[in-house]
Amino acid sequence: MKGQYLSPPVDDRQVWDAWLSYHNLPTMLAADEVGLFDALADGPLAVEALAGRCNVNARALGIVNSLLCALGLLVRREGRYGLTPVSRHYLVKTSDFYWGALLAGFRQATPSTELIVAALAPDAQHEGGENAKGWEAGEIPAERARHIAAFMHAHSCAAAIGAAQHPVFGEVKRLLDIGGGSGVFPIAMAQRWPHLRGTIMDLGTMCDAAMHYVREAGVADRVDTLAVDMFRQPWPTGYDALFFSNVFHDWNDETCLLLARKAYEALPPGGRILLHEALVNDNLDGPATVASFSLLMLYGTQGQQRALPELAALLDEAGFVDCEAHATCGYYSLTIARKP
Ligand SMILES: C[S@@+](CC[C@H](N)C(=O)[O-])C[C@H]1O[C@@H](n2cnc3c(N)ncnc32)[C@H](O)[C@@H]1O
Repeated sequence: MKGQYLSPPVDDRQVWDAWLSYHNLPTMLAADEVGLFDALADGPLAVEALAGRCNVNARALGIVNSLLCALGLLVRREGRYGLTPVSRHYLVKTSDFYWGALLAGFRQATPSTELIVAALAPDAQHEGGENAKGWEAGEIPAERARHIAAFMHAHSCAAAIGAAQHPVFGEVKRLLDIGGGSGVFPIAMAQRWPHLRGTIMDLGTMCDAAMHYVREAGVADRVDTLAVDMFRQPWPTGYDALFFSNVFHDWNDETCLLLARKAYEALPPGGRILLHEALVNDNLDGPATVASFSLLMLYGTQGQQRALPELAALLDEAGFVDCEAHATCGYYSLTIARKP
């Protein structure tokens, strides 16, 4: 998009739904393969006990189970997973109605099944794909950076325009967008709030790629870039809001806590941390599209999508207070907390 970013007349949830429905069958096949439905035939189990029965790792299983719940194949009550009438009758191997003979034929036709089964392995490392490895090493070649910026821009554009409407940005003077990608968020915010100045902090090659979007949007006088490896280099100060969009979902809890602590150190008292993420619901059983996005993060990065209580716990542990979340656009929400 060039020039002024205008709000789209409808949100993009149906595109997300069509995109991320590609995990539905592979997830059911992977669950069948690790014997998940059979393991629940005698009654509901908590995720750790179920992981033990199936000999899979519990974190990956929790993510897989969110999608299975959203698909109506599991139910989560009081923290335990149980079969639904459909999975009991059609997916337990001893049932007269077991679909296994048909499903087996689709195993090879759905390459994601392999990725999900591998992510469930008890000793899976969850290191992520090429992009995630480059991010951890702090090195992304220039051509790959331009490609990442282009796809993140398409992915985040409607969400950025939606997030920028939030009145909290009317109170922000200088915003640092950590892992800012194409810079779509500070661009949309600077256009919406004429007083706001934004900085895109990312790896050097990503900053170069982002400047193309900043110039096209006509905000180069108020949005700049800062090449900082967020794991290896000191973070700048002088910002009253530190913003992260689709960054926490790339990392495990330990790394997210490290990022939240670095944000706390860099902010002045009263400064805000803002996390823009698609949230899993509090009972960890949907929505299906967000649960599927979480699965993509599980094998594509080191992270996952989280529920608000999980993000709030991380922020609380880093010292932030007054955590609250607001829906922004499509499946996205803005979680805001304050340094006391
Ligand atoms: C999933 S993208 C999110 C982009 C953007 N915030 C959005 O929502 O459209 C993650 C971003 O984090 C950046 N990132 C990853 N590792 C980094 C590091 N070590 N230092 C600085 N930025 C990093 C990536 O380059 C990438 O732009």
